[in-house]
Amino acid sequence: MTLQMLRDTAQALVADDKGLLAMDESTPTCDKRFASLGIPQTVEARRAYREMIVTTAGLGECISGAILFDETIRQQKSDGTPFVKVLIDAGIIPGIKVDAGAKELAAHPGEKVTEGLDGLRDRLAEYVRIGARFAKWRAVITIAGGIPSWGCIHANAHALARYAALCQEAGLVPVVEPEVLMDGDHTMDQCCEVTDKVLRTVFSELFAQRVMLEGIILKPNMVLPGLACAKQEAVEEVADATVNCLLRAVPAAVPAIAFLSGGQSAELASARLNAMNVRFKSRLPWALAFSFARAIQQPALELWKGQEANVPAAQQALVHRARCNQAARRGEYSQAMEQS
Ligand code: 13P
Repeated sequence: MTLQMLRDTAQALVADDKGLLAMDESTPTCDKRFASLGIPQTVEARRAYREMIVTTAGLGECISGAILFDETIRQQKSDGTPFVKVLIDAGIIPGIKVDAGAKELAAHPGEKVTEGLDGLRDRLAEYVRIGARFAKWRAVITIAGGIPSWGCIHANAHALARYAALCQEAGLVPVVEPEVLMDGDHTMDQCCEVTDKVLRTVFSELFAQRVMLEGIILKPNMVLPGLACAKQEAVEEVADATVNCLLRAVPAAVPAIAFLSGGQSAELASARLNAMNVRFKSRLPWALAFSFARAIQQPALELWKGQEANVPAAQQALVHRARCNQAARRGEYSQAMEQS
């Protein structure tokens, strides 16, 4: 597999200030989100929802790649056209979530390790045949009393690196996602310290597994105070803490950093990404982009509610969020965009 091909895919995923749309919720996660809105939790409802997303007019102008779930990458529009073809025709590169989810880590109460390495080489080959050009694996790190432990950070970093090497062997760009969760009452400084340690460990493991950094995309959390922390820093403080943390821990060979949204409101996620690009863009070695799920989809999901009649309104909301985030990459997002 040539490095050039991986490099080209990674560059294409962040070209023209576009970003990634994560629409790879596992069936249980998707069902949970549907249940909270009274939407039936069926294969057909999930298919119809994903059809609404992939057929949104103009999505390809601001979204470069879409991360799909195993069920979704095999599905079609109601007229029989495969979703993968719909995406490619819209100029959107299909990607695939390949981890098997975060499971309890033995001997580490309250901590998780992401599984899915067994048989991964064969699964990647199949996804390449279906049309995927990049992949995603998410590790989760929790901050609480006494955790994260070194054992948890190391186990997750090692799995991410093994996954990334297998992806590159198969010709897929690995999106490497170590997520430090927002849940908890920890401070922004604590999040910064943990994120720093996690990222350094991830890059050490990527090096050990001979992963070519030019052919990956890093998908980290922003450095944020816990959701239950009394002190919630301003947008500019979050931008500074996040970029300074990344500058210390992420090698310059990495082409792009595409943030997850992690449960922030859609507007805050855009505002924070915007502030990072306004304040730092001209002096960063990597692109600062987005790979949001909830911060792009949630407003659209709430409008759609499982009803065919709501599809136009939901699609409008979806493309609006995608445009806001493209503007945030340029440092041109403002609250006024939300009114337009
Ligand atoms: P959120 O943006 O909703 O955090 O999801 C990103 C993602 O892909 C998680 O793996």
